[in-house]
This record gives sequence, C-alpha cells and structure tokens, in this order.
Amino acid sequence: MNQKQFEQLIGISKSIQNEIGTGYDIAFILGSGYGDLIEERKIRKRIYFKDIPKFPDKVIVGQRGEILTMDFKSRKILFFSGRFHYYQGYSPFEVTLPVRISKMLGVRIMIITNAAGGINCDFKPGDIMIIKDHINLMKNPLIGFSVEGYDLFVDMSNSYSERLRNTAINVAEEIGAVQKFKEGIYVATTGPSYETKAEIEFFKRIGADAVGMSTVPEVIAAVQEGIEIFAISVITNMAAGISKNPLNHEDVLKTMSETKKTLYPFFMHFLDKIIEFL
Ligand code: HPA
Repeated sequence: MNQKQFEQLIGISKSIQNEIGTGYDIAFILGSGYGDLIEERKIRKRIYFKDIPKFPDKVIVGQRGEILTMDFKSRKILFFSGRFHYYQGYSPFEVTLPVRISKMLGVRIMIITNAAGGINCDFKPGDIMIIKDHINLMKNPLIGFSVEGYDLFVDMSNSYSERLRNTAINVAEEIGAVQKFKEGIYVATTGPSYETKAEIEFFKRIGADAVGMSTVPEVIAAVQEGIEIFAISVITNMAAGISKNPLNHEDVLKTMSETKKTLYPFFMHFLDKIIEFL
C-alpha cells in the first residue's frame, strides 16, 4: 500500500461506514462456497461490492461479492462474502483491502475461511483444518509498502492465535465434531492451476498439510494491523497425486457446501466463546 492507495482506502472505508456504521468487533472473510454461511434472517445490512465506489467487484464462481453485517449478543460482526485473489490479477493492495477496511471499522479479531487440498494423508475431504502456521509461496503483500506509521518488518512467528485455536478445539468437542477437526500448516500458492504431483510431494516434504490459493496475504496484512487471527481450511479434495481423481472447482464447491452443516453450529458456539476475549 502506498500513500495514494491509503487515501483510496480511507475513501472506501468512509463509503462503507456511511452505509453500515462502525464499531465492528469481529470480521469474517469467507472463501469459496461460503456465501450462505449466515442465515438470511440474521443479516442486518448488506452492501454489494459493485455498489462501493473504487472497490474491486469481480469475484469467482461460488463467491457472492457482498459485505454483510450481523449482531451477535451485544457485538457487531462484519462478513466479507467473497475475497480477492492474486490469480484474478488483483494487486496486493486489492487482495488485502478487506483486512484494511476491517481495521478502519474497529475489528480486533478476524476469522478467515478457505478451501484447500489435503496433503497430509490422515486428512479426508470434508475435514476442517485449523491453520496453526503457514508457508508463503506467494508474493508478500507488504512489498513496496510505504505508508508512514506502519511496521514493515512484521513478526510472523505467532500469527495464528493460540487462544482462538484452543477455543476452536474445545468447541469442536462440545458440538461432537472433533473427529472432523485437524490442525495443520497451510502452504499458499498463487494458482489458479492446481499443483503438479511433484509440487505436492515437495510441499509435503517441507511440512505442509494443506495447499490453497488465498488467506496468506490477508493474514500478513492482519498481523501488520495488530488483528488477532483464526483461520480454517476446509479440505475439499486430496491434493494432486494424493488422490487419483482429477481436480475441479465444482467438486471443491460441493464439499464446501457439505461441511456447512458442521461449520454453522461450530461458528455460532465459537463466537459465543470468543466474544469474551474482546
Ligand atoms: N490446490 C490448491 N487450492 C485448492 C485445492 C487444491 O487442491 N483445493 C481447493 N483449493
């Protein structure tokens, strides 16, 4: 982000704030297949990306392109339903905009979901991996960052909040779904082509449990902003070479959709616990 983009960010945040106000505590960035995670009757406000001046609005199949708000007990929650990826041609500034806007609207905890291919042979499609760390094989979004007052040399050694991960495991136990929840390391590639078998073998050897094409740029920006992070990968398929089946986006969306019946109650219980941390 440079000074000009920072001014653009302020303008975009003001437009959004005019529609939905400020004082949000928690933000979700919802990846593929998660547009309808929130029940329609719980949505308080909705803005379409395309109606926000200077806001990117091209999203991929399976994503909605809207900002939603919900009240949870006395807390205000923001949802970005749809995200921006490098593989769509977006810049680091655009990819990390939801995080920067969240910060401007007061957010302190960010929850990120994505779809990923399983590398760890103990995983199965439909499992939910709580991300405990990542390996970034994408462009770092802070390259060229030149806005005063921000740290550039961000410490990434505790990026995925331990207390949020522990809370998630407790909640998974409480809702009787602990066998579906795993913890692991996410490796991020730009995509959009899926990986070769040799690449997956390489990722396995360097310690990755799942592979995907998002999340890491947002996490780096969130750590820079001082936002606490919780991120999960829905294992939608086993990665190339681990599964014999060819990979395709439709199957990814289908598995994402099936996991919603676990993730919806999970998130409601999880929110109930983490609002105590605010
Ligand atoms: N590779 C990369 N990204 C993905 C995959 C995969 O196998 N599945 C879902 N997102």
